[in-house]
Amino acid sequence: MIHIPDHIRVLKPYKSGNQVGKQISREAFKQLVNLASNENPLGASPLAIEAIKNSVEEISVYPNPSAPDLVNAIAKHFNKPPECIITGSGSDSIIADVFKAFTVEGQDIVMADATFIGAFVNANKLNRNIVKVPLKKDYSYDLKAMLKAIGRSTRIVYLANPNNPTGVMATKSEFEEFMKEVPSDVLVVLDEAYYAYSGEYDDCPNGLDYECNNLIVLRTMSKSYGLAGIRVGFAFGPKELIDYMYRVKLPFEPNILAQKAAVAALDDSEFIVKTIDTNKRNLTKLKVFFSKVGIKHTDGKANFTMIELKDGDTANKFAAESLEQGFVVRPLGMFGLPNCIRINSGTDEQTDRAIKVFENVIAKLK
Ligand SMILES: Cc1ncc(COP(=O)(O)O)c(C=O)c1O
Repeated sequence: MIHIPDHIRVLKPYKSGNQVGKQISREAFKQLVNLASNENPLGASPLAIEAIKNSVEEISVYPNPSAPDLVNAIAKHFNKPPECIITGSGSDSIIADVFKAFTVEGQDIVMADATFIGAFVNANKLNRNIVKVPLKKDYSYDLKAMLKAIGRSTRIVYLANPNNPTGVMATKSEFEEFMKEVPSDVLVVLDEAYYAYSGEYDDCPNGLDYECNNLIVLRTMSKSYGLAGIRVGFAFGPKELIDYMYRVKLPFEPNILAQKAAVAALDDSEFIVKTIDTNKRNLTKLKVFFSKVGIKHTDGKANFTMIELKDGDTANKFAAESLEQGFVVRPLGMFGLPNCIRINSGTDEQTDRAIKVFENVIAKLK
């Protein structure tokens, strides 16, 4: 009999936002509007698509393990030294590399009790001990409590900013206060998956502005660049730490087409501007609508908001009724918030239609 390690036996397979997509055919899913995965409703950067088409012939060769073209393009774009950058198959993969490089089994990783599921999944599969810190009542981070949770066995504090699934952001001054108090031998992983959106706010901290020996900043091309399906993420950090991450990284990530697509997408400023504008308009519409109908919601600073309903039953009904009418939204039971739903902004047309549908759904819930 094959021995299954205890920590693997109890793992539950990862469930993405798109649960509906797994239950119905691809054609049927295409008829629905997915507001459950925080993807870019405008699709992928056209320059990235072009780059993939032009590179298809190259798929017979291994990519360069240090992805120099992509790393150099990121370095140039963000004005950072290339030796302080590492890339991977999505920031999910990079989170795994950080945990592998800087912790061993049983050591503590501190994170909020409701945050990006990938951080929990990676910690659990590596048998790291997760120290969960409750969010405040308004769903913001309790940074003081997170500091208090740091113990002798803590090696990492994971902070997604803005947080997923709440969309709530720690401000620049809150983050700076927090960083001042974190012991210098504890690594802070600042996951800025939604920075293209949140960076529009003056009080949003930009992880790249800080030169700290214990800070690693994560970014992804899955959201604003529209490349979720091809899997590219990257991290910035002190050279010494990035070097260790290269030792644990799977050598050929990201794949060759992903690297080409990412280089092209970085330069697609027209697409990014359009993406940010579309999100600004449509996220505002969603927030204004939920305020108008008296549904409590977060002031999401990414490309989604989180609404709070009476209880878990009502939240499930909201999701089921919305689906009936063609819109997929994300119930948050898995995040420990059973009465909440996460909804990302769509195109102008999708969001206008979604609001009409939600109006109907809310009337039925009463
Ligand atoms: C905060 C946060 N970090 C990381 C990710 C994962 O991004 P990627 O597609 O690069 O793995 C997500 C995806 O939803 C996210 O919300």
